[in-house]
Amino acid sequence: MKFAVIGNPISHSLSPLMHHANFQSLNLENTYEAINVPVNQFQDIKKIILEKSIDGFNVTIPHKERIIPYLDDINEQAKSVGAVNTVLVKDGKWIGYNTDGIGYVNGLKQIYEGIEDAYILILGAGGASKGIANELYKIVRPTLTVANRTMSRFNNWSLNINKINLSHAESHLDEFDIIINTTPAGMNGNTDSVISLNRLASHTLVSDIVYNPYKTPILKEAEQRGNPIYNGLDMFVHQGAESFKIWTNLEPDIKAMKNIVIHKLKGEL
Ligand code: ATR
Repeated sequence: MKFAVIGNPISHSLSPLMHHANFQSLNLENTYEAINVPVNQFQDIKKIILEKSIDGFNVTIPHKERIIPYLDDINEQAKSVGAVNTVLVKDGKWIGYNTDGIGYVNGLKQIYEGIEDAYILILGAGGASKGIANELYKIVRPTLTVANRTMSRFNNWSLNINKINLSHAESHLDEFDIIINTTPAGMNGNTDSVISLNRLASHTLVSDIVYNPYKTPILKEAEQRGNPIYNGLDMFVHQGAESFKIWTNLEPDIKAMKNIVIHKLKGEL
């Protein structure tokens, strides 16, 4: 079978490496290639995929929303999030999914015992936040809290959650067991961190959905305070694993996928 990831830029994507490690471990002769699709060529996406006889593909920045009008069907999670990272090509029809949220939550469940009782704060209310909130909502008993800079972002949120602004989050920070940053604040030389961690309780797990850099500014600060931290590496691995399941109905070798990504990030490959 043939798989791919489309994006722009795409040459640094670790997805081909990660999926090949899985194929090799399962003795599958599948292929997975990175296809650079600039925005101004996106109208040719059907032709590009068809010509290569691709059975399924991932979609990454900046096309996760742009792909939607090209789909024949979209699953509920992807529709709610408004973004697609996985397309299954079945009998010539394109079906869109979003595995980012389940990817993050599957990883978190494995490292955090008792997640069902955790008080969780998500920072940011964009697509990534919504995907994670939708999945956490299914397994966590206390009401989830989502904090955002712009309250109007919540207008299209139907989930029953606490919706607060960032300064409210700052002043109530010690009430949470897990804090998940989905915003890019504090990255790319921007020194404004998303919120002050002054009121962070000592047991709170601070997490970010980014894994490159391995420790984002909020993770570094939390670690300096002595808090446990958790980056987005497992999210990346598990979103790929979930895509593979959608395409093949097979169980992926998640360990092999994670190991090769870690080797690459350490500069060992
Ligand atoms: P993604 O798909 O990765 O979630 P997105 O949909 O563009 O990306 O959402 C980005 C989120 O990061 C939003 O919640 C955004 O807040 P606003 O709704 O107020 O724009 C948040 N964000 C981005 N930059 C930020 C900053 N400097 N400080 C605080 N929040 C920020």
